[in-house]
Amino acid sequence: MTDFLTLAEDIAREAGDMLLAKRPTMSGEIETKSSPTDVVTTLDKASEELIRERVLAARPDDRILGEEGGEEPGESDVRWIVDPIDGTVNFLYGLPDWAVSIAVEVRGEVVAGVVNVPARGEVFTAARGRGAWLNGSPLRCNTGVPLAQALVSTGFGYLKGRREVQGQVVAHVLPRVRDIRRGGSCAVDLCSLAAGRVDAYYERGINPWDYAAAGLVATEAGARLGGLNGRPVSPSYAVCAAPGLFEELHDLLAPLDPERDS
Ligand code: IPD
Repeated sequence: MTDFLTLAEDIAREAGDMLLAKRPTMSGEIETKSSPTDVVTTLDKASEELIRERVLAARPDDRILGEEGGEEPGESDVRWIVDPIDGTVNFLYGLPDWAVSIAVEVRGEVVAGVVNVPARGEVFTAARGRGAWLNGSPLRCNTGVPLAQALVSTGFGYLKGRREVQGQVVAHVLPRVRDIRRGGSCAVDLCSLAAGRVDAYYERGINPWDYAAAGLVATEAGARLGGLNGRPVSPSYAVCAAPGLFEELHDLLAPLDPERDS
């Protein structure tokens, strides 16, 4: 596991350095993905290519799932789950909350995760059963926070029909919590929760490459991560908070039937 974490961290650092160094000269190269606001830069693809090359050079049989390139088949029971830039819109606008996210999954279970936030000089790491760290210092999420006092982060998808429902949900949540944050990177949001910078997080529509590594950081820092009504976290829904607040937030969200798009 230590080897996986070290390799993932080395690669995430190299990709982050490359992105930081090249960002100003290449930020104009934009193409559209599922809608005009879903921007994918040339650097997003370059970052994923770099990560795939480095992983396969070290572990040629492993499988890789990346946001840009999809799933690459392989012989081993190890799968790397990669988001070359989570928070693409922040990246594009020069805001600091974007990350390179790399998780290592063995037989379906994430065992190691790295979230590199280069513009903040912060690298979050986690190893299953061993803990979560920010630049090497151990992390614990906030505990004992009641919902009414909770700082809750969330995010919104790129599609209009999804955003309409997400807007209704956040309108219901906002008067019942301390405040809402929309950071723009699911991976950074979950790591912020692990570091006690927010108390809770929820979102519909995030993908394994967004939450695989950061989800391990959050749970190893003491948080509970799951879906609605006892289901595991999935692209359909994610809720994350310390036990107690998790249930309170879940019970506020679930009756809203938020796993739908209009
Ligand atoms: C997005 C970010 C954002 C979340 C979106 C994601 P991307 O990922 O994580 O915070 O709200 O749902 O799609 O497109 O920047 O990799």
